[in-house]
Amino acid sequence: MVRQKKQKCSKLLLLSCLAVIGVIWYRSKKSDYSLSMAPRAALAPSNEELEQLNEYRARKERIKEVCQRHNMYRRFSSYADVFRNHNPLAQGRTGRIRLRTNHPYGISACLIHKAASNTVISFLFIIPPNRKDYYLGNNWHPLSSNTSLLQPFQNYIRGFPGYFVFMVVRHPFARLVSSYRDRVTHAGGKNDDVKTEVFYQNPNITLEALANYKWVPFDAFIKALLVADVKDSPYVEWDWKPANYVCAPCNIDYDFIGKVENISQDIIYLAQRLGLEKEMMNVTGNNPWMHRTTEGDSSTNYVKQYFAQISKSDIFALYEKYKLDFELFGYDINDLVNQS
Ligand SMILES: *[C@@H]1O[C@H](CO)[C@@H](O)[C@H](O)[C@H]1NC(C)=O
Ligand SMILES: *[C@@H]1O[C@H](CO)[C@@H](O)[C@H](O)[C@H]1NC(C)=O
Ligand SMILES: *[C@@H]1O[C@H](CO)[C@@H](O)[C@H](O)[C@H]1NC(C)=O
Ligand SMILES: *[C@@H]1O[C@H](CO)[C@@H](O)[C@H](O)[C@H]1NC(C)=O
Repeated sequence: MVRQKKQKCSKLLLLSCLAVIGVIWYRSKKSDYSLSMAPRAALAPSNEELEQLNEYRARKERIKEVCQRHNMYRRFSSYADVFRNHNPLAQGRTGRIRLRTNHPYGISACLIHKAASNTVISFLFIIPPNRKDYYLGNNWHPLSSNTSLLQPFQNYIRGFPGYFVFMVVRHPFARLVSSYRDRVTHAGGKNDDVKTEVFYQNPNITLEALANYKWVPFDAFIKALLVADVKDSPYVEWDWKPANYVCAPCNIDYDFIGKVENISQDIIYLAQRLGLEKEMMNVTGNNPWMHRTTEGDSSTNYVKQYFAQISKSDIFALYEKYKLDFELFGYDINDLVNQS
């Protein structure tokens, strides 16, 4: 534990030494976020760093390959196209791509609920020095919709010139368990009297109840999800929508894909790549923000416990429902489900 922290500290120190170089690079390359990876530092990258870069490259390649294999790799042609195919990406009649954006810093992110979306928001609006320009009261929650933070369709057409576009993904089953735990915890067991059979009879009621922070058994939640239209049903919360539907990775060329399972490392890399390490350390040094990011690693066991209650056939059906996320983001059902 202590040793890990020490390693992390020295790594952070090293990264901060590169900050100046990074800032200079960032300022000069801001409008050229092609496939190039980290800023070219004076030092040759270590094997570990090369491995990390290969992993990031592989994440992008995988998405491209899966989208091509399913014949989904294409660009939206119009607002109507976005509305028709990816409602979550459209916002109001003005038609905006739902990427939260720190415009002056040219950073844009798609928010996947229950996939470190608060960390992503922090990275967008708290880490950069212009954080004072953004209202961080009630309005900074991912649910808020301040259209000035979105990307106009024209920017999409031109490939978001000058913007670094990223998203952070997570194992689909871990997202579901995380959402379930959140909602049930808030329910505080106050609604235990609600009859389970009612939920089973009408899956919409089950989902609506959980959405409203009422207690619902986990297996009833999963059964309700299985029959729901996860893309379009008004009873299906953002937390439960497949990430590929929310962020359209076959239609938007993301510069970077982070993973909750590796979020500490990935966020440090993001800061490095955008020349914001100093800022990040300044903010996270006296802020519990960084600690929240370790949740991913410790979640494996409790996710397994929840899924131990679910029948094999339901687990398989759920997998089928979220299969595209598994494929696109390189997750394995066996990581979080005990197969016996
Ligand atoms: C995190 O990144 C390291 C280095 O790239 C890799 O070895 C490790 O497997 C990753 N962990 C997860 C859970 O992706
Ligand atoms: C939306 O963001 C802009 C710029 O950050 C800010 O000026 C405006 O007050 C915000 N709107 C709301 C409703 O919070
Ligand atoms: C659940 O809601 C959807 C969408 O409103 C509706 O089409 C469906 O019939 C409902 N199912 C039940 C069992 O009420
Ligand atoms: C660090 O934060 C303090 C106060 O929050 C601020 O005054 C200072 O300018 C920041 N330093 C850097 C390098 O961002």
